Amino acid sequence: MKAAALLVAAGSGERLGAGGPKAFVALAGRPMLEWSLDALHGAGLDEVVVVVPPGHPGGVPGGATRSASVRAGLDALAPGFGAVVVHDAARPLVEPALFERVLDALAGADAAVAAARVSDTVKEAGEDGVVERTLDRSRLWAIQTPQAFRRDVLERAVAVSDAVLAAATDDAWLVERMGGRVVVVEAPARNFKVTTPHDLRVAESLLGGSDSMEP
Ligand code: CTP
Ligand code: MG
Repeated sequence: MKAAALLVAAGSGERLGAGGPKAFVALAGRPMLEWSLDALHGAGLDEVVVVVPPGHPGGVPGGATRSASVRAGLDALAPGFGAVVVHDAARPLVEPALFERVLDALAGADAAVAAARVSDTVKEAGEDGVVERTLDRSRLWAIQTPQAFRRDVLERAVAVSDAVLAAATDDAWLVERMGGRVVVVEAPARNFKVTTPHDLRVAESLLGGSDSMEP
């Protein structure tokens, strides 16, 4: 199956608070999204649709929610690709091997998603802060991107109302809700998402930028 990629970069980056869209914020000397583009090319994924904030140059205009941006990117994808890997521009430390591993895992699934084992204990609490239960951590995974899909499955999964799209915190859930088989692929710790200014400093030091530690 030939694979293409969607790089979603259309978010506003409110929690980072950098005064502009997060994917274009400078990280170790280049716009954040370029790190993911390098990793995609390193994995041999040369067909990449970049989804950018509406009005921003350099890509396909995104939507109001993350999954709406995925749908916009998918609509713009050329024919001839049977598999699609979706990646957040906000995960600039992704390595080429992870794209290859999620795509390989599609052999036995409709979708294969990068994920990290949860290391903290997770409890469920009410609005009043009173704990109601403790979950079985051995079965819990924190879901990331890249997420690989059979293209026909993803196209059907995003053909839903904007309200359903808005309720999706990851695209794989859209596949789950129609009964698709989704598998997790364990990702390395460095594949974290840049959400806050602290995350940006950590990414900067790992990529050897100006905030990195002296040798
Ligand atoms: N994204 C997108 N379209 C949207 C919202 C998010 O393409 N309407 C993308 C972001 O650009 C990012 C990824 O989805 O690469 C993960 O989203 P998140 O980390 O939440 O980024 P932002 O939405 O930009 O940040 P915030 O929620 O803090 O505003
Ligand atoms: Mg967001």
